[in-house]
Amino acid sequence: MEPNANRLAQRLAEAGQSHLLQFWSELSPEEQADLTLNLQEMDFQEINGFFKSAMETSSSSKNEKMDNRMEPVPREVLGSVTRDRESLKDWEQAGLRCISESKVAVLLLAGGQGTRLGVSYPKGMYDVGLPSHKTLFQIQAERILKLQQLAEQKHKIKCCIPWYIMTSGRTMESTKDFFLRHNYFGLDKGSVIFFQQGMLPAMDYSGKIILEDKGKLSMAPDGNGGLYRALGNQGILEDMENRGIGFIHVYCVDNILVKVADPSFVGFCVQKGADCGAKVVEKTNPTEAVGVVCKVDGRYQVVEYSEITLATAEKRSADGRLMFNAGNVANHFFSYSFLKDIVKKYEPKLLHHVAQKKIPYVGAQGQLIKPEKPNGIKMEKFVFDIFQFAKTFVVYEVLREDEFSPLKNADSQDGKDTPTTARHALMSLHHRWVLNAGGHFIDENGRRVPAIPSLKDGTDLPIKCEISPLVSYGGEGLEEFVKGREFHPTLMIDEHGVHELVKNGV
Ligand code: UD1
Repeated sequence: MEPNANRLAQRLAEAGQSHLLQFWSELSPEEQADLTLNLQEMDFQEINGFFKSAMETSSSSKNEKMDNRMEPVPREVLGSVTRDRESLKDWEQAGLRCISESKVAVLLLAGGQGTRLGVSYPKGMYDVGLPSHKTLFQIQAERILKLQQLAEQKHKIKCCIPWYIMTSGRTMESTKDFFLRHNYFGLDKGSVIFFQQGMLPAMDYSGKIILEDKGKLSMAPDGNGGLYRALGNQGILEDMENRGIGFIHVYCVDNILVKVADPSFVGFCVQKGADCGAKVVEKTNPTEAVGVVCKVDGRYQVVEYSEITLATAEKRSADGRLMFNAGNVANHFFSYSFLKDIVKKYEPKLLHHVAQKKIPYVGAQGQLIKPEKPNGIKMEKFVFDIFQFAKTFVVYEVLREDEFSPLKNADSQDGKDTPTTARHALMSLHHRWVLNAGGHFIDENGRRVPAIPSLKDGTDLPIKCEISPLVSYGGEGLEEFVKGREFHPTLMIDEHGVHELVKNGV
């Protein structure tokens, strides 16, 4: 071995990770160089420390103990689109004003691997099969464009909502390339800012880093809470400061209904003087895979679906609703100064969560093994783990059918959170927008379709209807297109006008 390699071998020995070089002599010079480079970049003492504390905090008895300390969100921190109708307009106006002053940024968490959906490319590039075939990225980009326009029209000044997009080592190149190929969907290129989160190795239960190949470590993104480290070390906080950003809406890539930079949510949080806020929908099924916002020892936090016990998830209040029903839709509000404090002071205090996984590895003879049961852990920080540091925390409750339909699974699985459910959720929302604006749908026999579609052939198929975000952000401004008119599905309304695809034989 070269002196460099010797030094590395010594560092590995000190960290108890010498097995990473067990196939060294079988590697080609290029593979040796790659492995050396990867290992040199790693801080093994830190990784070993992460492993130790993550394992200590993840035991199931700890989860049970935490369950006993959980309390539901109190009414006084809660704003609700249904119960606080009289304030909604005010909140929306306040949010639009902040947007018009270019104080609001959006930040997309898109570093996940989309394992459950089973695609090899970033989830934002997924086409759920809408009539327009728009991808999730395009839908979000167009909502940003429209909102800028609405704020500009109202306040008569030009504004910009910068879009920060967090990717990981696995999604960076393809994401950037996709945006370039689509000319940033009409957004200003300089205001779409990509940055990269960190990666961590998978480890076996004794703390040894797993080799997925003779010369390759098994690496995964460090969780969406990797955001805070990345904000600091990728110059993003500085960029926000230079642009004068005061408020940031952070959200996940997979919710087709996401109201990017939602002015009502932003306005609500700003008016309440909050440094941190979370959007929730009512959780009605105890086993639904959403975290719940609650208080633990007097501090706000999300207890993730993977960490709550069934007994607690099933607890009900006197009115029959789930006691912990503030379902996290992964839409968060942060003030800039709060984020800055987090990055500068609190990030190192965040602990990693542990996910037990079946991690492919090389056996002692160099053969590749795909384990049948979990053989190790991945460590992840969670984006919401900073709620505990908030001075003024608020919760904003919205309607699921208006704002939450995440894409998690492929269509062949159990039918929940699939491309089909996402497509249907968007089309039925747009159907309701058309009805609210005074339009109607007629079926193939010329009869008006009832507002609540009946079950046809045992399947509840929505009316095919899609409205481009470039035309309407949240259902506004549709009267001029639809009032008093009847349409045959498929109806599409976009920047070129109104189209009835079937009638025209398309
Ligand atoms: C997430 C929430 C859960 C919420 C649910 C709603 C977290 C930790 N959990 O769960 O409380 O109820 O959404 O749909 O937020 N990501 C990264 N980097 C990573 C891992 C993930 O950027 O290292 C991004 C993904 O690209 C995605 C988002 O984080 O946009 C959520 O990741 P996912 O693994 O799908 O979260 P869920 O388990 O569904």
